[in-house]
Amino acid sequence: MLVWGILWLLLASCMGHEAADPWYTIEQNLKNLPKKPDPILSSAQEIDPYLDPVSDGIKISLPMDYYEREQERIYDKFWKGASELQQEVYAQLKTSSAEFNNSEATYLLAQIHLIGEYGYPHNKTLAYYYLNRFNEMTNFTNATVLFELAVMHSTGLFGTIPIDSSKALIYYHLASGLGDVRAKMALAYRYQNGVNAPRDCDKALFLYSEIAQKLRSSYSDQEWDIVSPFLESYDVRICDFTGGLLSKGLSSTRLSTVRKRALRPDITSSVLTNLQGGRIILQFGGGGGSGFVGGDDEEEENGLMNIYYTALDNYQGTYTQRRNMTVAMQLLNMTYAQFDNDIRYMADLDRFFYGKCLGLLGHMYFRGEGVEMPNITLAEQLLERAIEITEVSDNFRSAAHADLGLINQYIYGNLTEAIKHYNRMVDLASSDGTAEFQLSKIYAGVNGHSGEERLAVEDPLFLMRRAAHKGFTPAIYELASMAEKGITGRVTCEELTSIYKTFIEENDEIVAPSLKEGFIALLRQETEVALWEYAKAAEQGYEVAQTNVAYLLYQPPLQLQEPPIIPEARRNMALAYYTRSFMQSNADAGVIAGDIYYEIGEYSRAVALYQTAAMKISVQAMWNLGYMYEHGLGVEQDFHLAKRHYEQVLEHNHKLYFGVRLTILKLKAKSWFIWLTGGKVNYWKTSTDPHHVASASSSWFSRLLKTFREAGRENSGHPENESIRPDQNSSGSILDTLQSWGVHAEDLITIGFVLLFFIMSFALRTVALRRGWAVRVNGVPLQPQQQGQQGGVDIQFFAI
Ligand SMILES: *[C@@H]1O[C@H](CO)[C@@H](O)[C@H](O)[C@H]1NC(C)=O
Ligand SMILES: *[C@@H]1O[C@H](CO)[C@@H](O)[C@H](O)[C@H]1NC(C)=O
Ligand SMILES: *[C@@H]1O[C@H](CO)[C@@H](O)[C@H](O)[C@H]1NC(C)=O
Ligand SMILES: *[C@@H]1O[C@H](CO)[C@@H](O)[C@H](O)[C@H]1NC(C)=O
Ligand SMILES: *[C@@H]1O[C@H](CO)[C@@H](O)[C@H](O)[C@H]1NC(C)=O
Ligand SMILES: *[C@@H]1O[C@H](CO)[C@@H](O)[C@H](O)[C@H]1NC(C)=O
Ligand SMILES: *[C@@H]1O[C@H](CO)[C@@H](O)[C@H](O)[C@H]1NC(C)=O
Ligand SMILES: *[C@@H]1O[C@H](CO)[C@@H](O)[C@H](O)[C@H]1NC(C)=O
Ligand SMILES: *[C@@H]1O[C@H](CO)[C@@H](O)[C@H](O)[C@H]1NC(C)=O
Ligand SMILES: *[C@@H]1O[C@H](CO)[C@@H](O)[C@H](O)[C@H]1NC(C)=O
Repeated sequence: MLVWGILWLLLASCMGHEAADPWYTIEQNLKNLPKKPDPILSSAQEIDPYLDPVSDGIKISLPMDYYEREQERIYDKFWKGASELQQEVYAQLKTSSAEFNNSEATYLLAQIHLIGEYGYPHNKTLAYYYLNRFNEMTNFTNATVLFELAVMHSTGLFGTIPIDSSKALIYYHLASGLGDVRAKMALAYRYQNGVNAPRDCDKALFLYSEIAQKLRSSYSDQEWDIVSPFLESYDVRICDFTGGLLSKGLSSTRLSTVRKRALRPDITSSVLTNLQGGRIILQFGGGGGSGFVGGDDEEEENGLMNIYYTALDNYQGTYTQRRNMTVAMQLLNMTYAQFDNDIRYMADLDRFFYGKCLGLLGHMYFRGEGVEMPNITLAEQLLERAIEITEVSDNFRSAAHADLGLINQYIYGNLTEAIKHYNRMVDLASSDGTAEFQLSKIYAGVNGHSGEERLAVEDPLFLMRRAAHKGFTPAIYELASMAEKGITGRVTCEELTSIYKTFIEENDEIVAPSLKEGFIALLRQETEVALWEYAKAAEQGYEVAQTNVAYLLYQPPLQLQEPPIIPEARRNMALAYYTRSFMQSNADAGVIAGDIYYEIGEYSRAVALYQTAAMKISVQAMWNLGYMYEHGLGVEQDFHLAKRHYEQVLEHNHKLYFGVRLTILKLKAKSWFIWLTGGKVNYWKTSTDPHHVASASSSWFSRLLKTFREAGRENSGHPENESIRPDQNSSGSILDTLQSWGVHAEDLITIGFVLLFFIMSFALRTVALRRGWAVRVNGVPLQPQQQGQQGGVDIQFFAI
């Protein structure tokens, strides 16, 4: 017995020592762990065509506030309820990494904690620990990991580790040296803008043009010239799905949501009603393609517009739906087969959309999309027919000309005919720039004309610029190389760099896949994962990603909301990214950055940002500047300047007329009050009030709405426990009570003044009418002017 026992012990201890690395078991087990769902749909069939056009049916709900403790609670809660397999795999991974120095296990641990793979919760501290360990194991040779570590050091992982910009720079250099394109972009961006590194345009240009050349050579000449590459882009700001960073009408930045579902035109819009001869007889069949087979005749015809847009969405793909060329081809091919004999009997609107369907079908046959092989003959037939059907009058221009131009130029070598087709497209605002691109190349190759003789429309540079402006990606590259060769005359290093940057960023499918990953994470409601993904793209220099990171950290409060409650490190990071985005000319981001400075009491910095943003024509910034001057925050108090800034708002946005006039009236009242009292009574001293934007100061109204806001905050980082939130105590004097209702002494006095005006003017009118005085209100006489009358009274009312 004893011998057996000793033997057993020995065996056990031997096994303990020589236990194998569990990596193989882990790989097997991982297959059984839950994978994340893919929120991107595979075709447009199941989408409701009546989605809200602004948000495109994309519902992203972000928590406003962030509490580290809440994150820890979620993390602990996960481990209490984790499945046995999850526990086992995790333990094995830890063993493999810690005892066997298995780099793959270490890498996987890092990724698990960064992006929450296999259902594990994210944990930035652990992610950093494991990534760092992996880096040391691989002796600083893995470029991917070096780049990710650089991002971590640059952002401090939003409060997890100390920010270390110089370490980040070193890691970017190392990764870039190993050929990592993201690190190269990050470096180039830093040199271009002087972010955490001295500004050096030549270095930036060198890096950007190297990346651009590499991208260019990844396309064959045929792809580049004829079948221009299709790029799936997720270069989109989250806030644009809800109308922009600032509230509607106040944003001055163009929306980035360009890949939404094709917008069904408003059937009451003038173009379409005209097409119908004024009659609106449209109705949609049930949800796209499936609806039109077997429906009754009327419905089939009316469905043509819907068929076209459904096919287009499948062809292009949207943010929430992959391209599905098979579906698009089927839909269009069926439409062609079914309707081609009926054209004669079609209503104009249906003809129009039928023509568009044929154009798209021809385009697909030409490019060989949705079919095995391109069929040029068929494509040409379809395109010509599309033109014939669509161009009933000169007002309508078919996009099919671009493809016919390409066919004539490259397949038949008939340049004259090609140019004819291209010229039909050139002045069409909605074209994609193909025609300009090709014309530019044709004219650049023709050396017969000397530069001066050419018409503007034959100027290769002019045409290339227009093609690039329309967003035709190859044209942006060609423009940059034209500029580099000196064709464009003098061009500064900064201009050239920014053209290259634009070209590279258009290729985000290749150079910045994390833009898509971030968006997908948002669709899955994984805010912290999205934050990490967008942080990588933001470091690469994507303005859109910088705004997104800042927005995920700090969502600007709506008019009557209180600022988000977030740790200081996160707020500072948000500030940094809003500022960077602003430096890349997103004026709205500058306003938000200014607001954050305002909130933390750094008024002069806020003013500086508002001033720059106002120069970029941000209406909100002008308003805020007016406020700062009115209250003497960060600048000398100056009512004249304040008034000028308020009035500037009106020059750019007439919708705010009412609000602006009221504010100016209040300003006047205030300045008279000061004049009356000799400036001794500073009743307006409410400068510590942080809720200034647009509503100027919180009013009783905002108090009333506070209840609604509280309800709206259900999604905040810490929903259950109110005890963490500092609560406001309202008690004390009558003024304090009034204040707690949002009625400031300032408002009371203003109201008094306004009342006084009205009473005075009313009295004046009455008296004047009785006595026959010549009274003019806003320059308009109250009664017909009588000759020779003297001592008239001029009353100026503010038009409110
Ligand atoms: C296209 O859509 C069809 C039907 O929805 C689907 O079966 C197919 O897998 C999709 N193809 C791709 C490439 O997503
Ligand atoms: C991360 O993991 C560590 C170790 O398990 C834990 O102490 C910490 O609370 C976690 N942090 C978060 C934010 O979950
Ligand atoms: C793992 O690496 C450490 C040093 O990083 C070393 O001390 C240890 O012996 C290694 N373990 C194995 C099993 O290789
Ligand atoms: C790591 O790199 C350093 C310097 O590049 C070298 O001296 C060292 O031998 C390398 N270590 C390993 C384990 O490859
Ligand atoms: C870095 O290591 C990870 C994990 O082994 C690997 O997937 C990745 O391809 C490596 N990157 C490079 C550039 O070698
Ligand atoms: C298009 O429809 C015709 C029948 O109308 C069919 O013969 C052909 O195969 C279809 N082509 C494709 C690419 O689906
Ligand atoms: C192209 O389409 C036409 C008409 O459908 C057909 O007759 C021809 O064989 C096709 N050509 C090729 C190369 O598939
Ligand atoms: C180009 O096409 C047009 C119209 O089809 C034709 O009249 C002309 O002769 C062609 N030119 C050449 C050089 O093939
Ligand atoms: C709220 O938080 C406090 C301390 O932070 C804790 O003592 C209390 O139990 C929490 N209440 C709830 C309902 O979670
Ligand atoms: C609010 O008032 C109560 C008593 O009225 C006091 O105990 C509490 O500390 C006050 N809270 C704050 C945040 O001032």
